[in-house]
Amino acid sequence: MSVRTIAKAKKLKGEITVPGDKSISHRSIMLGAIAQGTTEITNFLTGADCLATIKCFRKMGIDIDCRPSSILVHGKGLYGLTAPDGILDVGNSGTTTRLMSGILAGQDFSCVLNGDDSLNQRPMARIMKPLNSMGAHITSIKDNGCAPLKIEPGHLHSIVYQSPVASAQVKSAILLAGLYGDGETSVTEPALSRNHTELMLQSFGASVSAAMHPDGSATAYVHACDELYGQQIFVPGDISSAAYFIAAGLLVPGSELLVKNVGTNFTRAGFLDVCKAMGADITRVNETFLGGEGRADILVRSSDLKGATIEGDIIPALIDEIPILAVMAAHAEGTTVIKDAAELKVKETNRIATVTENLKAMGCNITPTADGMIIEGGSPLSGARIQSHMDHRIAMAFAIAGLTAKGETVIEDSQYVDVSYPEFFEAVERIRSDT
Ligand code: S3P
Repeated sequence: MSVRTIAKAKKLKGEITVPGDKSISHRSIMLGAIAQGTTEITNFLTGADCLATIKCFRKMGIDIDCRPSSILVHGKGLYGLTAPDGILDVGNSGTTTRLMSGILAGQDFSCVLNGDDSLNQRPMARIMKPLNSMGAHITSIKDNGCAPLKIEPGHLHSIVYQSPVASAQVKSAILLAGLYGDGETSVTEPALSRNHTELMLQSFGASVSAAMHPDGSATAYVHACDELYGQQIFVPGDISSAAYFIAAGLLVPGSELLVKNVGTNFTRAGFLDVCKAMGADITRVNETFLGGEGRADILVRSSDLKGATIEGDIIPALIDEIPILAVMAAHAEGTTVIKDAAELKVKETNRIATVTENLKAMGCNITPTADGMIIEGGSPLSGARIQSHMDHRIAMAFAIAGLTAKGETVIEDSQYVDVSYPEFFEAVERIRSDT
């Protein structure tokens, strides 16, 4: 177990380049592996989750070269994976488990996916049900709807699926399985979740389309296909990692930070919209687009924030940023209400519970609710011992809280930042400024 101590910051200044986007990095390995030819990935996130994806595909016969400046995935086509020798270890990664299950459902070999204690408690019935209705044979080995999962060969057909949750992992698992179907597969979700799979599938040559409906629900469509083709992928910086530094720049008085090369895909950028609604001084500069994915530098100046209501269709566009938004809300004038976010309960931890526990420990008045939380902001925070509960986003959100809190903040099990941002603590220390 490793522990980090965070002292209050005087001011933050400078530039930060956050690591590559976790969601896009996972997808680039997966699609690269099942495409014909070589996929070259630049700015790949070498966090533990994405490394788990690489290990799994290597175990299924895919040659993946990790070079200093890029990753080369030597794809073997839709049917080129081979039976792994032993269990596929997905570690802490829900994205690896769920998306890879969609691909494995279409293979002609059996395999077992197993993760760590946290992963093995997360719900997998949400992908097993639709994939099995496509003809897959996926079972929960302990019969509890969770991993370890056994995936046996099946003949897939296309489906029309109405998802009860707005989840990109569910949507993506079905779309990837849909490549192995016999026609058009569609997934309708109650609100639009991140669309990286759709964008990347399109650039790899699949026939994909999308529709938004008047009630806010959204449908993604994919046609079964014969081949995908390897691509060049430039992964933008992860907005979920950038969010910690945007928040830090806003909260520590007298600060100015430039967070560079941040992915701004609108299905991910809800955090920036909420920052604005809370009164944040943030500006997007140098915005560009590549492979359908936007990116920009974000200039942040410290700001007096006010509380906000965060609810409805924006929730999937900021679901991973809610722990850091809660920290911002604790500093904001007035009340912040977060609702329609019951999905928080099935992340790496139950984040309604872990955010509440830790903000309370720092002296904030917070009330958990069935689908979110209510935060009374404006009282100064005090340093505390923070339990990350092995959740990278809890460790990072509360390290940022530590920058403004009186005294010292101690983050337990801080090594879990490696899941998505291995150099996080070094980056925090680098931007401290006395002048
Ligand atoms: C992810 C989707 C989100 C997010 C997770 C990564 C992805 O989960 O919380 O960190 O890469 O598709 P859901 O889509 O299940 O909400």
